[in-house]
Amino acid sequence: MTFDLEQTDELLSTTRAVRRRLDLERHVPDDLLLRCIELAEQAPTGGDVASRRWIVIRDPDTKAKLADLYRAAGGSNIIKTADDRRGAGHPKERVVESAAHLAANLERVPVMILVTVWGVHDGSGRPGLFDSVIQAAWNLCLALRSRGLGSAWTTMHLGKAQEVGELLGIPDGVTQIVLLPVAWTIGTDFKPAARRPASEIVWFDRWGYTKGNLGDASDLLATMPGVTVEVDISAPPERVWEFASDINLPARFSHEFQGAEWIDADGPREGASFIGRNERVEVDRKWETTSWVVACDPPRVFAWNVNDRNRPSAQWRFELERIPGGTRLRQSLVIGPRLSATGTAMVENPDRAHQILADCQEQHRGNMNLTIQGIKRLAETEQDV
Ligand SMILES: Cc1cc2nc3c(=O)[nH]c(=O)nc-3n(C[C@H](O)[C@H](O)[C@H](O)COP(=O)(O)O)c2cc1C
Repeated sequence: MTFDLEQTDELLSTTRAVRRRLDLERHVPDDLLLRCIELAEQAPTGGDVASRRWIVIRDPDTKAKLADLYRAAGGSNIIKTADDRRGAGHPKERVVESAAHLAANLERVPVMILVTVWGVHDGSGRPGLFDSVIQAAWNLCLALRSRGLGSAWTTMHLGKAQEVGELLGIPDGVTQIVLLPVAWTIGTDFKPAARRPASEIVWFDRWGYTKGNLGDASDLLATMPGVTVEVDISAPPERVWEFASDINLPARFSHEFQGAEWIDADGPREGASFIGRNERVEVDRKWETTSWVVACDPPRVFAWNVNDRNRPSAQWRFELERIPGGTRLRQSLVIGPRLSATGTAMVENPDRAHQILADCQEQHRGNMNLTIQGIKRLAETEQDV
């Protein structure tokens, strides 16, 4: 059998959290749900033991009590947050509005499915229990979507798991995983979500090693090899930005980087250039580079190209992403396309090119980690810049 990739890809990329477009009036028949759960049960399970149990909830009184527990466990806070933020242009406004809509109307969905699994997590830190159930629950969401039904992955109720267990008569030794409100969707067109391109979150062979271009793997430099490091910081992006956009800051942490000086500006702005001074003591080498700021979008992106603005030998980038409780700071480097000292060494020693590149990536990864860890320390503790 050959799959229709256009359809499969559409299914995989448009199975969204549906909350505002759930049809609260139209009946969802049991046989349809059972067929979808049968399909979901095809997912792998540890030890080939069938441990998943699915609770289909239609009784209006039980749904109302579940909805109250959902709101008590956090849904009411979401509703309040949505009310407070409405119209303020907050970046998460749409998601919060959508989650609040579901929280306020949960009892009105035609049916809820609570996915559970026999067993209690052993606290070992291994996925253990959950990796025998989550893939099946997601398969259910896909099977529903392919039939015109929608759902949203919700876990808020777990804050009241004990009460939910008592309400539904769930025995000890069973773990609740996810509560899926299920309904026909209003319309069937959904769009893929904005996600990072795979090339930015896929590491090749070692943590943080990236390829920007998968075209010609025989030419190592043509793959635009690079390194990415990341750290979560308990400080807002505005504070982290002060450090990430300071071109002199890496000199405080890196063994190699000695300092930098703006040439034609007194601070970061797009188009400005600066001189950077480097030294590698082990090989008794000192060198200077000129860099151009190619992106400066406080407090999100600060990027610069080295040696040539348009055909750089290295492309550096800080990205600051607001996450709950702070900032995820990401620093990435792409080597090339212009030949740097590393690139030249690779071209001159093709037999050792792999190792030369790996050594270079390892060296940079070490320095970059020192930098972002240093920024984390400063942003979380020091009062002054
Ligand atoms: C672990 C997990 C827990 C979630 N819990 C809730 C929840 O309690 N309530 C809710 O409305 N959405 C919940 N969601 C849905 C996310 O908010 C949703 O995936 C996000 O808004 C992005 O939408 P998308 O999946 O359509 O891209 C949860 C998602 C995940 C993966």
